[in-house]
Amino acid sequence: MNVLDITGLKAENLTEVVKGLELLLADLQVHYTNLRGYHWHVKGKDFAILHERFEKMYDEVADKVDEVAERLLQLNVEPENRYSVILAKSEIKEVTGLTSPETILPEIVKTYKTLMALERSIIEKAGEVNDETTVAIMSDFLVGQEKDAWFLASMLS
Ligand SMILES: [Fe+2]
Repeated sequence: MNVLDITGLKAENLTEVVKGLELLLADLQVHYTNLRGYHWHVKGKDFAILHERFEKMYDEVADKVDEVAERLLQLNVEPENRYSVILAKSEIKEVTGLTSPETILPEIVKTYKTLMALERSIIEKAGEVNDETTVAIMSDFLVGQEKDAWFLASMLS
């Protein structure tokens, strides 16, 4: 049975929302692997704080990956799990070789800007077609990310 027959959402209205969520899923998966790299490779006097903080961040991103993938399934779309496809699709690119907070933190800031802009555009598109659940999920993501943005801004001040 088609899940949309139960929820009442219309597939023809959801094209743009789905496109946004598919891009977000790819972006989050690359962001996840980048954060694992920062967790492993960061060095310097703030090692203990940042090592732990990056772990917390990637754990949260892993939850987001699952939430976006399962939202796609609720919209009757199969989420992508192949790395090769994810890498080709993602706006966020793989990062390696960074060890200092001075280079890692601005890279994370750049990623957050990309993610938050995309989530806001998904909220706009989902709002237009009364997909309140996607709006709620994206809003929830922004709540945590804006808190992280405050942490990042403070670290860089
Ligand atoms: Fe670890």
